Amino acid sequence: MNKEELIIKLEEKYAAEGQPIEAYLEGLLHAKAINYWDYIQVDALFSLQKPRTNFPDEVIFLMYHQVTELLLKLVTHELEQATAEEGITGPILLEKITRAKRYTEVAQMSFDVMREGMDPEQYGQFRHTLTPASGFQSATFREIEFYCTDMWNLVMNRKKEELKGSGDQEEMFKWIYWQMAGVDHKTGKKSLTLRQFEEKYMKTFRKLANRYQKRNLWQQYLALPEAEKTSELMSMMKEFDHVFNVKWPLVHLRTAEHYLEHGKEVKAATGGSEWKKYLHPSYQRRMFFPELLTEQELENWGKD
Ligand code: HEM
Repeated sequence: MNKEELIIKLEEKYAAEGQPIEAYLEGLLHAKAINYWDYIQVDALFSLQKPRTNFPDEVIFLMYHQVTELLLKLVTHELEQATAEEGITGPILLEKITRAKRYTEVAQMSFDVMREGMDPEQYGQFRHTLTPASGFQSATFREIEFYCTDMWNLVMNRKKEELKGSGDQEEMFKWIYWQMAGVDHKTGKKSLTLRQFEEKYMKTFRKLANRYQKRNLWQQYLALPEAEKTSELMSMMKEFDHVFNVKWPLVHLRTAEHYLEHGKEVKAATGGSEWKKYLHPSYQRRMFFPELLTEQELENWGKD
């Protein structure tokens, strides 16, 4: 557009809003130029690291969790669009899932920052100041699950068949897989980690479960015309499922082993779970799109 065309467009824009264009042009005259640090909010970003000890490696632990939360936020940004009420086509779904997979892959591939990047002696000490907090309390992970799949896929493995197709959301929440990490099986009591998590997020989770029971990624896929359910789309959905529910959990588990099994005895997790069993993807068998998997893929799900 040349200068004259731009002025005409601007006049039209402000006239439609009942605003005099002169005031806006004058504003432009005085406005400061934008710069990188204000746009990116660098100072605000760097003010968000508040370690609880003086161990230098705690900052790595804290910042890498923040990095992961930002990556997961990018995933939800794509999934929110992919689960929009209208206008979703096969190619749009493919693009959104490809992006979601890419961000998850960055999280998985960069996990060595945790696995290899901290001194186990320091970790072994600063971790005590974090009890009973745990990555288990990351709601962003759980939100992604509601966006992606029907809720009974999130039910613990032994209850899955029984609740398959159930519309009873409360029953499914009762048996949702993460309860396995937060309930003492002897007393039946919930851990503080789980209670805090539920107090803060259950309302949000119920809303998400309601909103997405008919409009999650899997349902969006099913609603596509047959011609748009391409093999490319199917493979991308399977790859995303595998990175999110197998590859990331495995590298996370290996990291937990590296630190919690360092030294003479196996350490208890800050969130108090039976972590070695619980964190293994072949134990949880969490998957978003089981209908797309072959029998062999189902059988080998989560194995190293
Ligand atoms: C040294 C690094 C880490 C160790 C030793 C570790 C350890 C653990 C353990 C033992 C659990 C089980 C729950 C509990 O009892 O606390 C857990 C859960 C979890 N952690 Fe980590 N973690 C580490 C880093 C991270 C990072 C960087 C993230 C990214 C946000 C993260 C996210 C999660 C999530 C989402 C869960 C729940 C997994 C599930 O429910 O299947 N963790 N972690």
